[in-house]
Amino acid sequence: MMTKTISIIFGTRPEAIKLAPVILALKKARGIRCRVCVTAQHRHMLDQVLDIFGIVPDVDLNLMKKNQTLAGFTARAITAVDGYLADENPDLVMVQGDTTTVFAASLAAFYHQIPVAHVEAGLRTGNLQSPWPEELNRVLTTRMAALHFAPTASNRKNLIKEDIPSKNIVVTGNTVIDALFLALAKVKKNPPLIPGLPSFLLQKSSIINHQSSIPLVLITGHRRENFGGGFDNICRAIAELARQFPAVHFVYPVHLNPRVREPVMRILSPGATGTLLPNVHLIEPLDYLSFVALMNRATLILTDSGGVQEEAPSLGKPVIVMRDTTERPEAVKAGTVKVVGADTQNIVRAAAALLTRPALYKKMSTAYNPYGDGHATERIVSACRTFLTPL
Ligand code: UD1
Ligand code: UDP
Repeated sequence: MMTKTISIIFGTRPEAIKLAPVILALKKARGIRCRVCVTAQHRHMLDQVLDIFGIVPDVDLNLMKKNQTLAGFTARAITAVDGYLADENPDLVMVQGDTTTVFAASLAAFYHQIPVAHVEAGLRTGNLQSPWPEELNRVLTTRMAALHFAPTASNRKNLIKEDIPSKNIVVTGNTVIDALFLALAKVKKNPPLIPGLPSFLLQKSSIINHQSSIPLVLITGHRRENFGGGFDNICRAIAELARQFPAVHFVYPVHLNPRVREPVMRILSPGATGTLLPNVHLIEPLDYLSFVALMNRATLILTDSGGVQEEAPSLGKPVIVMRDTTERPEAVKAGTVKVVGADTQNIVRAAAALLTRPALYKKMSTAYNPYGDGHATERIVSACRTFLTPL
């Protein structure tokens, strides 16, 4: 059997988490040479994930700059990936999701006439402004890809509507569930310490069994369409909730984007609020194992993240989505995710209802897996093999 080369190209935290199980499997696959190239669109948050999964990139393009612009990063990434592909000349390029790295790497591969396999294909809101610029990135990546790995049947339908031939689409489940199951097994064996959090919030049993008498609300946020007013509203909602519910702890690992950190520090840091909010904990972004442990410990989650919306239903955690749209309708239909927008009063109302109405909480906290069974990786590896070595 002739060995074929697959180059996996990625750059940010969520891409690394969702590709880690696929990389680990492809590294072991017979007849496949798996090469890892990172743009390092995220330098620190990417390295946190690589460390956890023990992945060492073959090529590190090291492209992140502080406060990078969309056009600036796109231009640097296309040029750098172009050079990488000229040297490596793989048989297939694999990308994941909808970031600038995905769009730039797919375009560079397209120019080299190297087929692209797109993991997490077919997610759509139908609105180019939300999420911005990710909706455009994924629509354009679909146009360039040869193989489309759709997490759900409804993602597949979106691709069919855009005239992608059904023979080029495989419904796989989302690899985030594969990553989550890997992480949960490690967390349960060896509960991590969570830097920046007081120990009374983190008894071992509460991480493993997610049972604690102290309610904990976990928060994440980073979407560009929430920059400006949206983030101010989100932070005001957290401050308001912290005042209304002094016995509840609000834990927020703050994304490293300076456009996110500015409003968070201005509105929520102890110096900024004037009145100290002792139950608000602003901490640094967590490595994946610590974050999974904290999700498992949380009572509920406030987020604008895509990945967190997919992970939380598996853990039975209600999610309040601080965005106007979601490309992940499966969990909304099932009732664990509620989309409320980046509106202060809507966020406060939705969180307060969950914290005070046990029947509603119970209804929203049933665990189930609309995004996969933890075996997406196997389906992806098998489809890549068929694509590269057809009968
Ligand atoms: C990016 C993706 C978004 C994805 C998100 C996941 C685009 C356009 N955006 O958004 O789709 O959901 O990642 O988190 O591709 N920074 C650091 N260290 C890091 C990471 C970021 O300092 O490890 C700072 C830098 O100043 C950087 C800035 O954050 O310039 C923005 O990073 P960037 O990747 O451009 O955008 P994100 O908002 O992180
Ligand atoms: N995550 C993490 N540490 C954190 C916050 C999030 O490891 O401090 C994980 C989370 O479990 C999910 C992914 O990062 O798998 C989501 O990343 P992000 O919200 O940055 O991006 P998105 O999914 O919105 O593209």
